[in-house]
Amino acid sequence: MEKIGRILTGHRPTGPRHIGHLAGTLENWVQLQDSYECFFLIADLHVLTTDYEHPGRIPGNILEVLADWLAVGIDPGRSRIVLQSAIPQHAELAIALGMLVTVARLSRVPTYKEQVQALHLKPSLGLLNYPVLQSADILLYRADAVPVGEDQLPHLELSREIARRFNQLYGETFPEPQGLLSPTPRLPGTDNRSMHTSYGNTIALRDSAEETTRKIMGMYTDPTRLHASDPGHVEGNPVFDYHNVFNPNKEEVAEFKERYIKGKIGDVELKRRLAQVLNEHLAPIRQRREALIARPNQLIDIIQAGTQSARPVAEATMEIVKSKLGLNLAAMSYEGQPQP
Ligand code: TRP
Repeated sequence: MEKIGRILTGHRPTGPRHIGHLAGTLENWVQLQDSYECFFLIADLHVLTTDYEHPGRIPGNILEVLADWLAVGIDPGRSRIVLQSAIPQHAELAIALGMLVTVARLSRVPTYKEQVQALHLKPSLGLLNYPVLQSADILLYRADAVPVGEDQLPHLELSREIARRFNQLYGETFPEPQGLLSPTPRLPGTDNRSMHTSYGNTIALRDSAEETTRKIMGMYTDPTRLHASDPGHVEGNPVFDYHNVFNPNKEEVAEFKERYIKGKIGDVELKRRLAQVLNEHLAPIRQRREALIARPNQLIDIIQAGTQSARPVAEATMEIVKSKLGLNLAAMSYEGQPQP
C-alpha cells in the first residue's frame, strides 16, 4: 500500500509496558503501520535525563519494551525499530538545534517544570535539553507526523518551532511535524490516579491472568456507594473506563451502566466481568510476549537490523544540516580559504 507519510515516535525504556500504553498508544501505532512509513524509537538517552544513577536497568528494560511492542503487533518487517544511542546523529543534531532555542523557552516547558518539582533536585542541563533531544529524534528522520499522548504535545510544539526556525534561517530542510493524538482517551490507573508504574497502579502486559484479576478486584470504584443497592456513579469510575475500552460487548456495557446508576448491580459482578474481558484481550499478547522475551538474542537482532536500516537516513539528514551550518570538511577548499 502507498504510504501517506513518515512517522517517528517512541518510548523511553523505563520498564514493561502496561494497559495504559496498550489502549492509548500501542494499538494506535499498530494501525498506523498500514498507512505510514514508521520509525519506532527506543529513547535510551532520554532515560538518563532522570535515571542516570541506575544505568544497569537500561539494557533489560530495552528488551522488555521491545517484547511488548512486538507482542502487540509492531512489525519489524514493515517498521524500523531504532535504538537512539546507537545512532550518534541524534546527539549531534540535538547539539546543533540547541543553538536555536533559548534557556528561557526550555524552562517554561511544563514537563520540565513538573520534573524539577518532583525530583527535588537541581535540574541538569540534560533534563533541560530533553525536548531538544526529542526534537532531534523527530527531525533527524524528517518525520511528517508524531503520534503522541497529550502530555507530549508541548514537546512537539517545540519541535515545530525549531523546524520553522531552522528552515527560516538556512532554507527549507525539515517538514513541520504534525501531532497525531490517539483516538482512545488516557486510561486512569487502578486507583483512579493517572496510570504510572511508580504509583503501583498499573496492569502490565506481562502480568499473569491471576495477577490481573487480583488487581481488577481491588480497583477503585465509586467511593460514595456503600451497598450494591445504592445508586452509583459511572463518570469518573475507572471500572467503567476500562469496560469502555476492553469490553467488546457494547450493549452489555450500556446495560451495566443503567443498572449501576439505579443500584441494581454490585461492584464485584462488574469487576469479575471486567477481569474476564481484559484477560481475554490480553491472553494472545501475553502468549506472544512470553515467547519473545525467552529469546533475547532474537530481540537484539531486531534492534540491530532496525537501527542499521535507519542509519543511512540519519546520516543523510545530518550531512545536509552540517553543510547548511558551515560544518563541512569535504566542501572546504584550499583556494577558497584565506591564507594564514
Ligand atoms: N518523550 C517521550 C515519552 O516520554 C519519548 C520520546 C523520545 C519520543 N523521543 C521521542 C516520543 C520522539 C515521540 C517522538 O513518551
